[in-house]
Amino acid sequence: MPIRGILKLPGDKSISHRLLMLASIAKGESLIYNISTGDDVNTTRKCLEACGITINNKEGGIHIKGGKLRSPKIGLNCGNSGTTLRLLIGLLIGKGIKAEFYGDESLSNRPMKRILLPLSKMGALIKSNKNKLPISIIKSQLNGINYRSPLSSGQLKSSILLAGLGANGMTLLNEPIKSRDHTENLLKFLGANLTVDGLNLRLKPLLNSSLRRFNAIVPGDPSTASFFATAVALIPNSKITFKGILYNHTRIGFFNLLKKIGVGVDWLSHWEESGELVRDLKIYYKKLKPFIITSDLIPSLIDEIPLLALLATQAEGRSEISGASELRVKECDRIKAICFNLQNMGADIIEKDDGFIIKGPTKLKGTNIKTFDDHRIAMTFSIAAKIALKKVVLDNYDCVSISYPDFYNVLRKVLI
Ligand code: S3P
Repeated sequence: MPIRGILKLPGDKSISHRLLMLASIAKGESLIYNISTGDDVNTTRKCLEACGITINNKEGGIHIKGGKLRSPKIGLNCGNSGTTLRLLIGLLIGKGIKAEFYGDESLSNRPMKRILLPLSKMGALIKSNKNKLPISIIKSQLNGINYRSPLSSGQLKSSILLAGLGANGMTLLNEPIKSRDHTENLLKFLGANLTVDGLNLRLKPLLNSSLRRFNAIVPGDPSTASFFATAVALIPNSKITFKGILYNHTRIGFFNLLKKIGVGVDWLSHWEESGELVRDLKIYYKKLKPFIITSDLIPSLIDEIPLLALLATQAEGRSEISGASELRVKECDRIKAICFNLQNMGADIIEKDDGFIIKGPTKLKGTNIKTFDDHRIAMTFSIAAKIALKKVVLDNYDCVSISYPDFYNVLRKVLI
């Protein structure tokens, strides 16, 4: 069955988290439209409310009264959301807030040393369970830092920048490959004194000034669009148009690659929303070629790698992904989850420490899928199910609500 339709998707998850956090420390009342509908962003909202911020749904948007954050009376439950946890620790430490953080089983097993180390170097006193959750901020009077990050991570970079807003002195940051840059874009948009010079950032603390209040429409999430785009690339005669998708070079590696390997990808008209470019996007079926991806491209398509693996099973020839060891510490070990499930579907895939090698094309068999309760694994294999020879059954459908609760309804709508 081909895929056809015009879709207007909910706002980008990364930008939604950041807008909520920045609105909570801005001066005055901010308004956010088209915020991500996923559970993760709701988790950030609840944590901010627990820190005394008033947030209301009004007139189709979210109103946030920026103000004084206070130490929460209860532990902050970050659920499944690494972005909530890592960014919120930075934000609260910068504001001198004491807080305790916990999360679900997946989040409790994810590495936090990457943020605890630089934040401690800035002067914070943080207690953790061997660099994992639960984590408590004990003391937080911060100095600026000059930090050369060993990782290309939007969450790590953002955690330090948010902490740096409340530090004494400048925060200088360098990253090895550019990671998503929404925190920088929004901070500049809201009046912070931040300069970006290639891979180097320089942030002046806010001291007695504040970020300004804002009205924002969150651009459509390109990572959500990628699931439908993959279905289009796999099913002959398919085409889909997305209205108002985020067009940011640190996020659209997947679409650039699709175009390179032969799929129809047309970016149409463009405009700006809250310091980010937004465009309509048309994707249409054309026969796929295999591909090689190495570390320099990984950050711009990190969340889309499960989909790339699926695409590679249908391209004629050998595809390889390397430099993606960060996938091992996402909501689950995504390299393992991809290899385990694609092998069960009959694909020719070899697992490597930092990626995989796939030879295609193979007709995928129907099977039971182990999602590891990871939303992106569940959505990837729900798309794989559309080209499988027999029925595919997932062990958890509900986890898609982490980023896109409406996924199955919309998928049903575009299948004709
Ligand atoms: C995110 C950054 C990425 C990405 C995650 C969201 C963000 O993680 O995989 O889904 O909003 O900053 P890393 O920072 O761990 O690379």
